[in-house]
Amino acid sequence: MGRGVGSMKTIIEPFRIKSVEPIRMTTVAERREVLTKCHYNLFAIPSRDVLIDLLTDSGVAAMSAAQWAAIMRGDESYAGSPSFERFEAAVKALMPFKHVIPTHQGRAAEAILFSLLGGAGRVIPSNTHFDTTRGNIEASGAEAVDLLVPGGADPNCIAPFKGNMDLARLADLLRREGPRVPCVMMTITNNAGGGQPASLANIKAVAELAHAHGKPFIIDGCRFAENAWFVKVREPGQAARSIPDIVRDIFSCADGMTMSAKKDAFGNIGGWLALNDDEMAAGARARLILTEGFPTYGGLAGRDLEALAQGLTEIVDEDYLRYRIRANEYVVERLVASGVPVVLPAGGHAVFLDAKQALPHISPLQYPGQALAVALYEEGGVRSCEIGSVMFGKWKDGGEVAAAQELVRLAMPRRVYTQSHADYVIETIVSVYERREKLRGYKIVWQPSALRHFTARFEQLP
Ligand code: F0G
Repeated sequence: MGRGVGSMKTIIEPFRIKSVEPIRMTTVAERREVLTKCHYNLFAIPSRDVLIDLLTDSGVAAMSAAQWAAIMRGDESYAGSPSFERFEAAVKALMPFKHVIPTHQGRAAEAILFSLLGGAGRVIPSNTHFDTTRGNIEASGAEAVDLLVPGGADPNCIAPFKGNMDLARLADLLRREGPRVPCVMMTITNNAGGGQPASLANIKAVAELAHAHGKPFIIDGCRFAENAWFVKVREPGQAARSIPDIVRDIFSCADGMTMSAKKDAFGNIGGWLALNDDEMAAGARARLILTEGFPTYGGLAGRDLEALAQGLTEIVDEDYLRYRIRANEYVVERLVASGVPVVLPAGGHAVFLDAKQALPHISPLQYPGQALAVALYEEGGVRSCEIGSVMFGKWKDGGEVAAAQELVRLAMPRRVYTQSHADYVIETIVSVYERREKLRGYKIVWQPSALRHFTARFEQLP
């Protein structure tokens, strides 16, 4: 996928294609009609009307032949399935936690965790909580606090570890609010901040600080392999280590983790909660039985557990990770060369466009991110996701308050698209950017009471 820095040859997709899904071609006129029917909400578009679907990297990976083969081995016993044993062993080989509790996806693990650690009056810090994590914390009555390192949210700040925790602010919070803090969290990589990694040194320092205050340290590890790759190639002294070795080092300093296996486990569904503390694990399993299922399957079928066990061995492959990270760098480099404002440096799982810089004539409350995302669909059938005032705008004193950033996320499904798909996406973005002055803003004509970005209806402004 483009030549890597210092390497002689193109970094290719390290796989061959064994099974394919056709993409249905559509015209600009057809897509305009789809947009009107869907009230300019990209979540409402049927996927058959999308050419390149970059709405998310979650649950949309292409499974390997070995994963499909493992699925046939799935043992669907209610209790004590050998598929669970294989899943548990695969998780523990990378993340040496005492208890591994399977769930149907990441947010189910979060809901169980915060049923134990959340509650009114409590404060839970992280570098940046993902929205379902924040949602589950807030639903428990607790407060979610983001303590990202300075520059971490600045699209133009080029730094190797923009997902790091601000240690000074964490120390301050623990000093001031100590008794209210039930645990300290970190999200790796930092999805909301552009897929930016945290360094091993920062993760260890956060763990030490948490432990010095007697607090458990919990990692949201959705994109742990991508984060480990960045540690290997960017952090001094880490280059010679294997990815599994770095991964084990990261999780050895934590007391627990939540995981969406729909990301870095190549799963189409799945997740887990892992813990070291026996009493907490007993509480989590009691809750699991109420909401997900028996502890040896959680919310999953035996065949899913098999696919994840195999996926975990594939995700730490260096040839895969080199290609994975290079694919986003390639897109970002070409966009930068065309003058398109993007979040720098390229993140692990997505390319983020900066709509605030691209469309200065559209004010934040006329949703520049939405305008750009809609235009990308119209132009090339590329589906992306607004991460700006549509998603994070707030109501305060009867008025709407804009989000801090107006971004458009192009999330890359794992092993799904090729370099020519990437070239097509780049061409689509560049053609929209070239006619950016003509893009218009939007107003929301209908919205639900919460999480409006999924179902809101828009109208184009004149
Ligand atoms: N944590 C992070 C960092 C995530 O990115 C996600 C999901 C979750 C937790 C929740 O996991 O979806 O399995 O319940 N992110 C997806 C995305 C939805 O598109 O970024 P889940």
